[in-house]
Amino acid sequence: MSDYTQVPVDLGDRSYAVTIGPGALSDVGAIVASRRAPTSAALVTNPTVARHYSQTVLQSLSAHGIDARLLLVAAGERSKTLANVERLYNWFLDMGLDRGGAVIALGGGVIGDLAGFAAATYMRGVDFHQIPTTLLAQVDASVGGKTGVDLPRGKNLVGAFHQPRSVTMDTRTLDTLPARELRCGLAEVVKHGIIYDQAYFRFVASAARHLLAREETEMVHAVQRSVEIKRDVVQADERESGLRAILNCGHTIAHAVEVVGGYGHYSHGEAVSIGLVTEAIIAEHLGLAENGLAKEIACILSKLRLPVGMGSELDTNDIVRAVALDKKTLGGAARFALPERIGQCRIVEVPSSEIARGVEEHRRLFT
Ligand SMILES: NC(=O)c1ccc[n+]([C@@H]2O[C@H](COP(=O)([O-])OP(=O)(O)OC[C@H]3O[C@@H](n4cnc5c(N)ncnc54)[C@H](O)[C@@H]3O)[C@@H](O)[C@H]2O)c1
Ligand SMILES: [Zn+2]
Repeated sequence: MSDYTQVPVDLGDRSYAVTIGPGALSDVGAIVASRRAPTSAALVTNPTVARHYSQTVLQSLSAHGIDARLLLVAAGERSKTLANVERLYNWFLDMGLDRGGAVIALGGGVIGDLAGFAAATYMRGVDFHQIPTTLLAQVDASVGGKTGVDLPRGKNLVGAFHQPRSVTMDTRTLDTLPARELRCGLAEVVKHGIIYDQAYFRFVASAARHLLAREETEMVHAVQRSVEIKRDVVQADERESGLRAILNCGHTIAHAVEVVGGYGHYSHGEAVSIGLVTEAIIAEHLGLAENGLAKEIACILSKLRLPVGMGSELDTNDIVRAVALDKKTLGGAARFALPERIGQCRIVEVPSSEIARGVEEHRRLFT
C-alpha cells in the first residue's frame, strides 16, 4: 500500500484508522481486508458516485478476495428514509449477507448515514466501512459514528451510533465534486479552525485559493486536520454529553437560516457560513469575544466564496422563532456554541433578545 496519512481513532475495542490520501480508493480492498475480512460485502452507493468510482472499488475489493454486490439508491437527501433502509435489508437478505458480512458506504453523507444505519441494525449490527466522497462527508459526516435517517417530520430523527471498522478518504474523488458541494465542506473546515485550532484557521485563510482549486497538498492537509479535530472532540465525548456540542458552532443560526430561507434555497454549508458570522456577532455583543472576530470570520468565508450576508428574506423574528422551535425553548434561552476567539468556543445560553440583536447587526454589517 502507498504511503497514506493515517489518523487513528481510539475508542477502545471499537478503534479504527482513517486513511487519507490521493488514490486511496484503489487500496480500499487491502484496507477492508486488513480489518475483519468480510465473507461478503454490500457496496451501497448512488448512480452518480457509482459512475465515477464503483469500478475502482469493486476491483480493489475483488483483488483482496472480497466479493461485493453493488446496491444503488437514488442521489440526494430524500433517499435517507426508513423505506430505503428496508430495501437495503431485503437486498442484504437476497445476497445472503450474514453476521460475517460487511456494509460499505461509497458516497456523501447521505449514503454514509443511510448505509451506516442499515449496518447498525441489520441482524443487530454488522461491520461497516466508509468511503466518503464529498468534502463534507470526509471532514464531518464520516467521523464520529453517527448514522441515521430522516422522517417526514424532520431530519435525522431516527439513528444509532455505529463506529466503522475503517474509513478511506481519497482526496482525488473531490475532483468531480460540484463546486457548491465543495464549498459546503469548506464551511465545516472553517468551523473546525474556529472551535479548536487557530493555526489551522490561519492555514485555511492563506490556502483558500488552493483549496478552491482542490490542490492536492492543501486538500490532504485540510482533510487530515479536520478529521483530527473531529476525532479529538468525538473521542473525548463519544455519546454527545458535553464537549461534542462545540461542533454545533454556527449551526444554531444555520438551522434557522435553512428553515426560514426554505429548504434547499441555502445549502447546509451556506447556512453554516452565515451562522458562523451571526454567532460571532452575538459573542461580541455578550462580551465573550473581542470586537472584530465576526469580521475576521466573514473575511475567510468570503475568500472561500461562501455567503456571509444576512439576506433581507431572512426576517429577524422568523429566525428567532425558528431557533426557539429547533431548540424547543419557546420564550426561554437557547444553547449556542459561541466562539470566544479563533480556536476556542464555549457553550452559552442566549436569550431571544440577543439572538434578534445579533441578526439585526449582522444585516447592518453584511448584506
Ligand atoms: N453522521 C454525521 O455525523 C453527519 C454529519 C454531518 C452531516 N451529515 C449528513 O450528511 C448529509 C449531507 O452529506 P453531503 O453534503 O455529503 O451530501 P450528499 O451525500 O447528498 O452528496 C452531495 C451530492 O454530491 C454527489 N457526490 C458525492 N460524491 C461525489 C463525487 N466525488 N463526485 C461527484 N458527485 C458526488 C452526490 O451524489 C450528491 O448528489 C446530510 O444528510 C447530513 O444530515 C451527517
Ligand atoms: Zn454542519
